[in-house]
Amino acid sequence: MTHATPIRRDTFPNDFVWGVATSAFQIEGASEADGKGTSIWDDFCRLPNAIADSSNGTVACDHYSKWESDLDLVSSLGVDAYRFSISWPRVQPKGSGKFNETGFAFYDRLIDGMLARGLKPYCTLNHWDLPSGLQTSGGWSNRDTVQRFVDYACEVNSRFGNRLVSICTHNEPWVIAVLGHQTGSFAPGATSRLLAMQVAHNLLLSHGLTVTALRQLGCKASLGIVLNMSPSEGAQPNAADTAMAELEFGINVRWYLEPLLLGNYPSDVWKHLSTDVPTVAAGDMDCICAPLDFLGINYYMRTVVSADPTWKQRVPPENCTDMGWEIYPQGLSQLLLRLHHDYDLPPIVITENGAAFQDEVNEGSVHDSRRQEYLASHLIALNNAMHQGVRVDGYFIWSLLDNFEWSSGYTKRFGIVHVDYPSQQRILKDSAYWYRDFCNKKNSRK
Ligand code: FCB
Repeated sequence: MTHATPIRRDTFPNDFVWGVATSAFQIEGASEADGKGTSIWDDFCRLPNAIADSSNGTVACDHYSKWESDLDLVSSLGVDAYRFSISWPRVQPKGSGKFNETGFAFYDRLIDGMLARGLKPYCTLNHWDLPSGLQTSGGWSNRDTVQRFVDYACEVNSRFGNRLVSICTHNEPWVIAVLGHQTGSFAPGATSRLLAMQVAHNLLLSHGLTVTALRQLGCKASLGIVLNMSPSEGAQPNAADTAMAELEFGINVRWYLEPLLLGNYPSDVWKHLSTDVPTVAAGDMDCICAPLDFLGINYYMRTVVSADPTWKQRVPPENCTDMGWEIYPQGLSQLLLRLHHDYDLPPIVITENGAAFQDEVNEGSVHDSRRQEYLASHLIALNNAMHQGVRVDGYFIWSLLDNFEWSSGYTKRFGIVHVDYPSQQRILKDSAYWYRDFCNKKNSRK
């Protein structure tokens, strides 16, 4: 094995949490088993041309039946924590009313399985698979869904709250709002910016209300939310491109972050959105900015923008992942340092970072040196930011397994473990062995 870029665990704090991440819809399969209701992603997959390979989540990685050996895999890596999500329609098929005991029993086993292996459970409540029943009445664009989510979160807390180390309300509200309701490339496939902005607001509001409710219920888990973030840069160092980049960062990042941290929408973006701003009721903003125990950040790339509409970013293929995303590790340091400079931040957790590549299985091995290099270079960037004063408490690789990559179906492989879908066989890639070696270099500084 090559170790092109050396980075050691002992350059991070002793109590830094190392983990791997997945989400329910992307790995579980069993989409109709044991009383599970359908989700908007089950529905979206049925639309013509919605998914690149016309696939769906019916089987995925069959994690619903393979959860035990999958947890053994996680544990064999020597990580501290496992980030997973609960499928809302599995535990409450219609999104309101009756809960599904068989669904809860699955997560009960899963969480106990983590604890038995010494893994810290990091739970996400909403990783996009909203119960279809709620979509019939407008889904996240309907303010009523906010209360449905709080009820679901409280029920999860009553069953698992004292066993979970961390609870994240929503994964990447920007994706749900913009890709789900403005561009229509993700479920539920709507195409209205006004709707998208209302969805974003309702997601933030449901987050704030949930955090407050769980605290009142005495929940001891660390409570937070996960935002996707890319630093934005102008293509040219001129005023027009710089302003464009700042607006882009405002639309994609500050629009979500500032309500959470400051209790306000950023005025430049509010102005830019013109008539597409959300309806905000009295008291909403105070709810949204309930103190966070942690802020989760998913980092994959930077964005480069230009005021010139004919400009197109050209990244050489060797600097791109299979998603076409630019490999730009220094963007992670830049992003963290900017946030640290601009805001009074809660502790940060890097809840996702990783890369898709077309891996090949060679005599039972997967030599994914590019993924290994991607991960190592991002850990160096993370370490740099931390040494410059940014508090980061944990890092999770996306993903444990190759899985259903949303509208890309099974065509993109993000796992550090290869999944042969026909046989459901798992093969640790070189990057998994590298991460295992990295994690097992126990910290010598006490
Ligand atoms: C993030 C999602 C995750 C996965 C990665 C590649 O936006 O949270 O589910 O799809 O991208």
